[in-house]
Amino acid sequence: MTEIWNRLKDHRKTQGEARIEALFADPSRAEAFSAEADGLVFDYSKTMIDAGARDLLLDLARGADVEARREAMFTGAKINETEGRAVLHTALRNLAGSVMVDGAEVMDEVRATHARMTDFARAVRDGSFAGQGGAITDVVNIGIGGSDLGPAMAALALAPYHDGPRTHFVSNVDGADIADTLKELDPATTLVIVASKTFTTIETMTNARTARDWMGKAVADPGAQFVALSSAAGKAAEFGIDESRVFGFEDWVGGRYSMWGPIGLSLMLAVAPERFDEFLAGGAAMDAHFRGAPLEANLPVLLALVGIWHHQVCGYPTRAVLPYDNRLMRLPAYLQQLEMESNGKRVAMDGSDLAVVSGPVVWGEPGTNGQHAFYQLIHQGTVPVPCEFILAAKGHEPDLAHHHILLAANCLAQSEALMRGRSLDEARALMAAKGLTGAELDRQARHRVFPGNRPSTTLLLEQLTPFALGQIVALYEHRVFVEGVILGINSFDQWGVELGKELALKVEPLLKGEAAEGHDPSTERLAGMIRSLRA
Ligand code: F6P
Repeated sequence: MTEIWNRLKDHRKTQGEARIEALFADPSRAEAFSAEADGLVFDYSKTMIDAGARDLLLDLARGADVEARREAMFTGAKINETEGRAVLHTALRNLAGSVMVDGAEVMDEVRATHARMTDFARAVRDGSFAGQGGAITDVVNIGIGGSDLGPAMAALALAPYHDGPRTHFVSNVDGADIADTLKELDPATTLVIVASKTFTTIETMTNARTARDWMGKAVADPGAQFVALSSAAGKAAEFGIDESRVFGFEDWVGGRYSMWGPIGLSLMLAVAPERFDEFLAGGAAMDAHFRGAPLEANLPVLLALVGIWHHQVCGYPTRAVLPYDNRLMRLPAYLQQLEMESNGKRVAMDGSDLAVVSGPVVWGEPGTNGQHAFYQLIHQGTVPVPCEFILAAKGHEPDLAHHHILLAANCLAQSEALMRGRSLDEARALMAAKGLTGAELDRQARHRVFPGNRPSTTLLLEQLTPFALGQIVALYEHRVFVEGVILGINSFDQWGVELGKELALKVEPLLKGEAAEGHDPSTERLAGMIRSLRA
């Protein structure tokens, strides 16, 4: 592996100051550096990946045994080695399939839970399951991280399909979150979903108790309007939720990979089981593509290799995800957890130090809003930010097609502008046309230079349907997996979140003025100031 990494870095050096635009001297480049899966097109031609770089990147993937690891994942091997678990979120969207874990078929249980979710969602939606004040009008999903971001992102993304009860998402332990949500709602017609794989997460359990108290003031049996989505059925029962409303899943579904099963119940309630199944079908279609397509035509593999090229080879520290789709507003936040919780690690699977830097910082906002905020830095800042544009050819508002054309034009224009830039000569000509001369022309022109040669990729879809959303989410999941395999990381644990959680429990007594030892002077002083300000 070290040798391929070195060859990649050498290859990058040999490119020197070469420009992306020059690569288009090859008339087939736009097509040859694109791939397609079930209508989803990934164009990575506006990057410095040339044929030589692509060959080396593919060698890297082969050298890391991506194909064997991929098969191990799909077939239920315990590839999450630090937790001794299989990784089978793909099973949740392959309902007709068969998967064995520890010698036992797991799909019967998956199918049974999916059928129970479907029945429950139908009953809520048609009013046969009602609240104590009538049909359910509002659903509040209480969860955090993977028990929130997926369904929250998807519920917004699929808003045009939303014909069920209103859905709300409460995640933050900040009381403002739940207070602002509940104040608009009628407890007698609200369904509360407590979404927590472990059913111990302090934010979720605190919010769940607050919601139960709120409901208890208005209805005789608050527990009857609670649902639990969890791997810990016993803990849900202790909380007072009847087992008929507990939807479980196994430990081989990681939190940030869990929206395909019970954690997706709020989405299913919002858009109907049929639409939810289309979302699953989109994920399954991407799975089939990932499992079957050759590496050089494989979207998740190519997306991963582009990521590796930009971060580990070129050294660009961050990547921006820029959906030109307002309803994908929460996708960057969703991907932050997916990518950074999965691959933000410094130790390889075998316990050794990572040989290369780990995953990049992922961030973003929808276009065109971002253009009027941070694109300044993307175009003219000193550090390139590889941009990942996402665009649908058509929206859901036929009467507003002219908006969509403008949206798409902006997306394509940004990727073109990033690549082309504007030279000093062009900037000087612009200033001269405005009548400037001499030193003032020189000075003003320099500010108007765009270095260009800034890489971007474009993911193009026909329309943001449930199926397409499923494809996109599964695409990014597998991208993270492939990057993790190449880096030698276990993408499925998250030990890095533990220390802060433990310390929060130890800081709490300090804030309450109870004896708490072992804190540093800064923390003690700040806690003291908070105590006085609250007194
Ligand atoms: O923050 C760590 C984490 O464990 C995430 O991985 C997970 O998605 C989130 O907390 C919520 O966990 P749970 O579903 O167990 O409440």
